[in-house]
Amino acid sequence: MNRRQIIIFTSGIVACVIVAWALVAVVKDRRPTRASPGGAVLITAAADIGGPFNLIDHTGKPVTDTDFRGRSMLIYFGYTFCPDVCPTELQTVARAMELLGDKGKNVVPVFITVDPARDTVAVMRDYVAAFHPRMVGLTGSAEQVKAVAKEYKVYSRKAPGTSEGTKDYLVDHTSLLYLVSADGKVKALFKGGTQPEALAKELERLTR
Ligand code: NI
Repeated sequence: MNRRQIIIFTSGIVACVIVAWALVAVVKDRRPTRASPGGAVLITAAADIGGPFNLIDHTGKPVTDTDFRGRSMLIYFGYTFCPDVCPTELQTVARAMELLGDKGKNVVPVFITVDPARDTVAVMRDYVAAFHPRMVGLTGSAEQVKAVAKEYKVYSRKAPGTSEGTKDYLVDHTSLLYLVSADGKVKALFKGGTQPEALAKELERLTR
């Protein structure tokens, strides 16, 4: 393996560990939990996950969580330079929205960056457009992004050894999908790797 492959491989393993850790941390105090058809891990009653945010959308407009009241959000945290996991998850989201069709018109797919230093408004605009026409990209100051990540218990850090001091670093991060219902409460979490069909099915059930 060359250096790049080693970095990607290593960060893949680290990402898996982080996801496992995040799931354990999240599941530990929460009931009921069940595995849904298709392998989506669905955690309900996630009362202490989620909360208010102040961010900037991909058009440069300031937005808060209250702007989404009356609609559901399907939120994923990641970064646009992510070589593999983020694009895969966002493709899953886009496909699930396609499968939902009209039934998903009240669900807003939201991508929140954990890497605001590189994910500027312009970068986010091009990125979300590549996945889904209704996808909203959210960035902000380092403080704003840190605050929303804390509310959602999202873990992220620069992957050690990945081109320090350059702009080519990788970021290890939690890979979960959060369904926030129309009243602003987190209703369910889906693990990374959930299949689009399973996701669409659960979204339909939970947003009816
Ligand atoms: Ni990623």
